[in-house]
Amino acid sequence: MEVDIDSVSKGKKTQRIDKILGHLGYGSRSDIKKMVKLGRVTLNDVVVKDSGTQSHPYEDIIAVDGERVVYREFVYLMLNKPAGVISATEDTRDRTVLDLIPDEFRRFSPFPVGRLDKDTEGFLLLTNDGQLAHDLLSPRKHVPKTYEADVLGDVGEREIALFREGVCLDDGYVTLPAKLEIVGHPRQDQDRVLSRIRLTISEGKFHQVKRMFLAAGSKVTYLKRISMGPLSLDDQLALGAFRELTEEELTLLKTYKRASEDGC
Ligand code: URA
Repeated sequence: MEVDIDSVSKGKKTQRIDKILGHLGYGSRSDIKKMVKLGRVTLNDVVVKDSGTQSHPYEDIIAVDGERVVYREFVYLMLNKPAGVISATEDTRDRTVLDLIPDEFRRFSPFPVGRLDKDTEGFLLLTNDGQLAHDLLSPRKHVPKTYEADVLGDVGEREIALFREGVCLDDGYVTLPAKLEIVGHPRQDQDRVLSRIRLTISEGKFHQVKRMFLAAGSKVTYLKRISMGPLSLDDQLALGAFRELTEEELTLLKTYKRASEDGC
């Protein structure tokens, strides 16, 4: 699916072709000059002779070695993070979420907006839009995040009330009010009882969900994030799969950001 997500922020200006290709990770100015010299770059099906040629990155058809180059200033990816990979751009030991993203998108240097623990699954936004990431993560914005979890024991009204009031974590921090919902009935799993819950928090302390349940005397055995701000995990995305945000989702995210700014 080809989604023109950049229409929100498309500029009208032309740019040098070496600048456009440089932004897309095709190399330095001198690398691109060499590519041009070798006749590898075309602009609207005509071989480019000068790497300083002006082009409109969104409207012209630029190709390298016959492959069309799709220009984006920013990328916005929704990933269904599987357990076992870490929310980082690189790591010497573990696979990272970036290892799940093909070169076509990695060339934009996306990074995860916030962190999920290694064993947590679900919604993770990756982007190279630093401002948007900063806004979503700002503690002052209180962007809500909803998680589904399996928790040991029969979770009920006591925990709902505790989390609604704010619970004191192991370091003395008292959490903001959080909404706890119980999904279905507790179930037997071998020799233990598990409750499926949904918890919405509007802050992002380290291991927050797990620590909230520890503070309530219980333990999370499975954790998955299902939404962040106005966006929900696409249930068609298999674990480990990703897709670009749709134009509609991106607009929601950007207007949501503005709405929360207005509220401050
Ligand atoms: N809370 C946690 O405990 N872990 C996560 O990965 C996210 C929220």
